[in-house]
Amino acid sequence: MAKMWAGRTAGITDKIADDFNSSISFDSRMYRQDITGSMAHAAMLANQGIITREDADTLIAGLETILQDLDSGALAIDLDCEDIHMFVEQVLTERLGDVGKKLHTARSRNDQVALDIRMYLRDQVDEISDLLKDLTSVVTAKAEEYKATIMPGYTHLQRAQPITFGHHLMAYAMMFLRDLDRLADCRKRMNQSPIGCCALAGTTYETDRYFEAKELGFDSICLNSLDGVSDRDFCVELMSAISVAMMHLSRFSEEIILWSSWEFKFVELSDAYTTGSSIMPQKKNPDMAELVRGKTGRVYGDLMALLTTLKGLPLAYNKDMQEDKESIFDACDTIKMCLKVFVGMVDTLKAIPENMMKAAQQGFINATDLADYLVKKGLPFRAAYKISGSIVAYCIQNNKVLESMTLEEYQEFSDIFQQDVYEDISLEACVSKRISVGGTSVESVEMQIKYVNEVLGR
Ligand code: ARG
Repeated sequence: MAKMWAGRTAGITDKIADDFNSSISFDSRMYRQDITGSMAHAAMLANQGIITREDADTLIAGLETILQDLDSGALAIDLDCEDIHMFVEQVLTERLGDVGKKLHTARSRNDQVALDIRMYLRDQVDEISDLLKDLTSVVTAKAEEYKATIMPGYTHLQRAQPITFGHHLMAYAMMFLRDLDRLADCRKRMNQSPIGCCALAGTTYETDRYFEAKELGFDSICLNSLDGVSDRDFCVELMSAISVAMMHLSRFSEEIILWSSWEFKFVELSDAYTTGSSIMPQKKNPDMAELVRGKTGRVYGDLMALLTTLKGLPLAYNKDMQEDKESIFDACDTIKMCLKVFVGMVDTLKAIPENMMKAAQQGFINATDLADYLVKKGLPFRAAYKISGSIVAYCIQNNKVLESMTLEEYQEFSDIFQQDVYEDISLEACVSKRISVGGTSVESVEMQIKYVNEVLGR
């Protein structure tokens, strides 16, 4: 059959070229946006006297039934059509006859597709944000549960200073708040309507772009028609925001993987989020966390693919831009899946406080506090640091920890040491003394929890 755009050419294309050119297999997911956009367009054409009110009513009713039939499954997508825009128009014309052919007045597929993607992605941003909020809530609830659970804090993956598990978890809550902010920010620029830019240059008809924008829930319109049809910044911005969020999920995954290993055994994942091995009966593998870490690479790939596609494109629309959809859809689908699995995985995760404490008791993570004790008694910090370091070296040689040194041993290093040193180096004291804003003390973590819950409004 000849293409709808048959005109200059007979519109008969090679089968392989057809398959290559077609985007319906992946853009059909935008049918709702395409149809809703067309309804607003028909209404605008009637308002402006470009078509009759009667024709507009017929078009809108026809579009409404197509939407219902697609929703119910009564109408199947015809994969032989070039794209979803052609499909909807074709069905409309089959059903309504000549009136159907009036819909495409004063628009082009170029502004139509730009409209559809923006509308589709707006909803995606909202869905992703809701899932991120769920995860932030779950992480914050876990932090509340473990706000006094002591564990080693690390730098260079070497035990550094004692912290609480709640404090560690709240670090991720802060990252997720930034992710939510980035999503909200990119949604602002996404929410400008390109419809009415037409093919590239605007139109001779007296259209009302503001009416269509308002009908479809946009904040404003794209003010340059060339830009309106060729801008895909909002896809790139959304994919970068998603990439950063995936990077956070991947770091969290990495920690969960480490923590659930026998080497750490700080946490136990629920069986529901682990798998066994087909050969090693003892295994309980953190596959979900590993897959999230793995899928992060895939999302970065989506971002790089679109950036690369766009980089050499002259204005305005080029067919290359059809490549935007698979990348951005994949990034959205992937992060949604990852977030859903993460919510359950974190919600059911149990800490093993004894093991965290055991690890915290080794590695001299209270050596800074030992130095601070001497500073409190009047020594300059550098001198205190040196004494504290020599004591650690002594402990290592003599198979001791700071808590098991006798007062006599301490006094060998400095006569400043008194019985009260033991209070200052107890891990509980090390944590509870870190009352600076953002620090690891229980009060400080409670303040962080309160802040996050307020931002979430939950
Ligand atoms: N399927 C196309 C896309 O996704 C729609 C726009 C086609 N425009 C055109 N002039 N061929 O980009």
